[in-house]
Amino acid sequence: MDVLVAGGSGFLGQHLCAELDDRGHDVTALSRDPDPAELPAGVETAMGDVTAYDSIAESFEGQDAVVNLVALSPLFVPKGGNEMHDRVHRGGTENCVRAAEEHDVDRFVQLSALGADPDGPTNYIRAKGQAEEIVRDSSLDWVMFRPSVVFGEGGEFVSFTKRLKKLFAPGLPLYPLPGGGTKTRFQPIWVGDLVPMIADAVGDDDHVGQTYDIGGPEVLTLRKITEMVYEAADKSVTIVGLPMGLAGIGLKTLSILPGFPMGGDQYRSLNFDNTTDDNDVGAFDVAPEEMTTLAAYLGVE
Ligand SMILES: NC(=O)c1ccc[n+]([C@@H]2O[C@H](COP(=O)([O-])OP(=O)(O)OC[C@H]3O[C@@H](n4cnc5c(N)ncnc54)[C@H](OP(=O)(O)O)[C@@H]3O)[C@@H](O)[C@H]2O)c1
Repeated sequence: MDVLVAGGSGFLGQHLCAELDDRGHDVTALSRDPDPAELPAGVETAMGDVTAYDSIAESFEGQDAVVNLVALSPLFVPKGGNEMHDRVHRGGTENCVRAAEEHDVDRFVQLSALGADPDGPTNYIRAKGQAEEIVRDSSLDWVMFRPSVVFGEGGEFVSFTKRLKKLFAPGLPLYPLPGGGTKTRFQPIWVGDLVPMIADAVGDDDHVGQTYDIGGPEVLTLRKITEMVYEAADKSVTIVGLPMGLAGIGLKTLSILPGFPMGGDQYRSLNFDNTTDDNDVGAFDVAPEEMTTLAAYLGVE
């Protein structure tokens, strides 16, 4: 199959392009500035910005399937502010869906996120929810993935905890986490477990019209994840609880500083879990106990 991976130069994108290439597909990675050196030799690149329809339309010509992985990270305030999520996640999806429809692409695989909700509490969650509606309302054979946080080579989730420490307690032996890091739970999934599922959805008709909530094999608090990351680096960490209200006021105040990378959305996202009670990995013949845990990946088991 000819497969266009929008956002193919990113974290999931590089892994997916390699997987699709291994499976014998003709793959093109689309992003604003893809570097062929970061992709397998057989993968073509195309340059375009999903917020500008005319810059991407041509790359949809002749494709059998499109995977939309274009993203702005919700962990930090994107360049241009949190409102950029609407332009890129909702508006970008609208343009990709339109281009796919106008170029008779059969399959459209959309990467959404756990908790995506058109009326949700953050710009990212709302834009992701609205993007889901656009994909479901399209005439395409769509498949929707809603994963929890993804870890693996090239990902930012593991380094996120260290970056938080540098921001809030540089050089201090203490690590103040909002709510002691016990209020927010994640279900991290290894990129090597998720990517084959996405590749299956590209070629297998059984997944058309399905929405999959996808998580890893265990639920972990932010505190536990932070402790594991420090243990893996052979460093000690003393986590102290920062009352959630105080953390909210602190972040709101700091977010006024030019260039400070966190704000109200990032605080609000620490107030809800990123987990699923109905893990759909079974739809890909995967059992949670067969999946790679974060501890195993970090080598702290
Ligand atoms: N990673 C996770 O933990 C996680 C968890 C849940 C859901 N997801 C979802 O999974 C998908 C992939 O995430 P990821 O972690 O691989 O993201 P990523 O590493 O940030 O990659 C994003 C990709 O999108 C491209 N991009 C950004 N803005 C663009 C624009 N305006 N036009 C064209 N391309 C643009 C980037 O390349 P350029 O910047 O060079 O253009 C890059 O190739 C996203 O939908 C994300 O929301 C990820």
